Amino acid sequence: MKKIIIANWKMQLSFKDSLILAKELKKKIKNPKNDTVICPGFLAIAPIVDILQGGDLLLGAQNCALKNRGALTGETSPATLNELGVKYVIIGHSERRLILKEDPDLINAKTKAALAAKLIPIICVGETLNERELGQTKKVLLAQVKSALKEVNIKNSSGIIIAYEPLWAIGTGEPIIPFEAEAIHIFLKAEAAKILGKKIRVVYGGSVNGSNAAQFLQEKNIDGLLIGSASLNVQEFASIVKL
Ligand code: PGA
Repeated sequence: MKKIIIANWKMQLSFKDSLILAKELKKKIKNPKNDTVICPGFLAIAPIVDILQGGDLLLGAQNCALKNRGALTGETSPATLNELGVKYVIIGHSERRLILKEDPDLINAKTKAALAAKLIPIICVGETLNERELGQTKKVLLAQVKSALKEVNIKNSSGIIIAYEPLWAIGTGEPIIPFEAEAIHIFLKAEAAKILGKKIRVVYGGSVNGSNAAQFLQEKNIDGLLIGSASLNVQEFASIVKL
């Protein structure tokens, strides 16, 4: 199966700069070896759909609502994202869990809504530094995976992705050692397969850049990368996609 490289632009760019970056990436990245997904902020998504026409980049969102229609002021429907041409959606990023207080039930509901709208959820899980130091990494990850995938059915879907993002590695310049990440990916894949009855892709995120991406992609069970700051640099992101 192809690996997948996902760019998480977070809230780092203005509307104008988002469109400029999308245009430059479309020009620079042709026939990528791996699936390549960019996840801009919501307001930039519609114009970027037009920019990416005829190119090789896929589109993702950074979040979605917990249902597809209804009285839900300020939220963005997964069905509407699908209508625009979005294929993927990041769910439960640690910044949303921590800063916006997203809880496991909400993440589970968003996962189901995304699947119902034919989007591929990219569910983020990860332990804090404290949990890691206490030897609780697997326990924490398992709880996050179990709650996110509770009563989730992927039989008639295009699949689901888990992104392993240790919180201590996000934005710190200190990624996990690829060998250690590989072991955690094996664990996550096995646990997800027990719940879903199907093998899914697990990707790594946290301080991935142009210098270390190849080491992660060489690991057999690391199916791709979720990249924050390094995805904002055209040259660097394009060089990772080519690996
Ligand atoms: P980073 O962010 O690559 O800047 O560490 C990754 C993420 O939060 O998805």
